[in-house]
Amino acid sequence: MKLNIASLPGDGIGREVVPAAKEVLDTLAEIHGGLTFEFTDFPWSCEYYLENGTMMPEDGLDTLSQFDAIFLGAVGNKKLVPDHISLWGLLIKIRREFEQVINIRPAKIFSGLKSPLVNPKDFDLIVVRENSEGEYSSIGGRIYQGEDQIAIQNAVFSRKATERAMRFAFELAKKRKKHVTSATKSNGIFHSMPFWDEVFEFVAKDYPEVNSNSQHIDALAAFFVTHPERFDVIVASNLFGDVLTDIGAAIMGSIGIAPSANINVNGKYPSMFEPVHGSAPDIIGKGTANPLGQIWTAKMLLDHFGEEELGSVLLDVMESLLKDGYVTPDIGGKCTTKEVTQEMMTRLKAK
Ligand code: NAI
Ligand code: MG
Repeated sequence: MKLNIASLPGDGIGREVVPAAKEVLDTLAEIHGGLTFEFTDFPWSCEYYLENGTMMPEDGLDTLSQFDAIFLGAVGNKKLVPDHISLWGLLIKIRREFEQVINIRPAKIFSGLKSPLVNPKDFDLIVVRENSEGEYSSIGGRIYQGEDQIAIQNAVFSRKATERAMRFAFELAKKRKKHVTSATKSNGIFHSMPFWDEVFEFVAKDYPEVNSNSQHIDALAAFFVTHPERFDVIVASNLFGDVLTDIGAAIMGSIGIAPSANINVNGKYPSMFEPVHGSAPDIIGKGTANPLGQIWTAKMLLDHFGEEELGSVLLDVMESLLKDGYVTPDIGGKCTTKEVTQEMMTRLKAK
């Protein structure tokens, strides 16, 4: 299999970690034989904006649509361009226009990485977040002035998008520990969440081999802290998923390693793989950016194309690096981006 990948390092440390992860992917391809990656680099970034007045060319989306996947670093350089312009002009534009309606983010305990939890058990979970509607809709409005002011924000839950996110979660669970938890709040939210529960029950019937349960978001958020080991796949609405995924990244111990994928499920457009972290302006050029978030993102890309075995190899090696202290300063080590990447490749070759 040959994968054509659009590489968008973007800004800041995106330009340091994307090349590192590409090297790792090329090393994997060498080992694997049957798999090759063809990367095409695009310089779309805040600097590009200063020169051209846009974050990407007018036909940028058309160009990207020709690729199998998009591998993105980070976007944002407040000194050059306000964040809302850079994010909406590139990242959010791609997510929306390419119908990347599902966002997935795993969280896992690694030996060698200090979790802020005191005695964490062995957790390994993944949140499937509905990424196109829900609480993040633009429907509503504001009326009146002064103390009579009223703001109305409508949440939108379509059968299609709800069911789509849930089926994605069940399919994912089939390949994992076969358990799906639905994040609900049907005791407090009168219309949308009872609907969410009904759709969940309906979809669950098609997956008798997968266990499922529903949990109210407040309790669920607390369990992410007290018993994250109880979870496998969690399916959540846009807002609930947003909050849960940040807790997930937090209990792992570092934003520098957290990955995410924006998935296009209808096959019309490429999916996009990006780490959770931003461009980290405070450490640009120091050579100490943690490449593991971008590398784990590459593992999600491999999984997406059915190369799960290779993906596990990557994750295993990542875990061994953390365990043996080959880590960057953000997680208490002294290694540089290059050293971590080099050690990763050495270990992959030895596999
Ligand atoms: P940030 O994630 O860039 O940085 C937060 C803190 O974490 C910083 O201290 C940074 O040094 C550290 N950090 C992040 N990633 C790291 C890594 N791989 N290795 C070592 N340390 C790491 O978030 P911040 O500072 O809020 O945003 C900076 C810029 O990035 C802004 O312009 C923002 O809009 C943009 N941003 C872009 C995102 C994206 O492209 N998906 C996501 C979040 C922020
Ligand atoms: Mg968030």
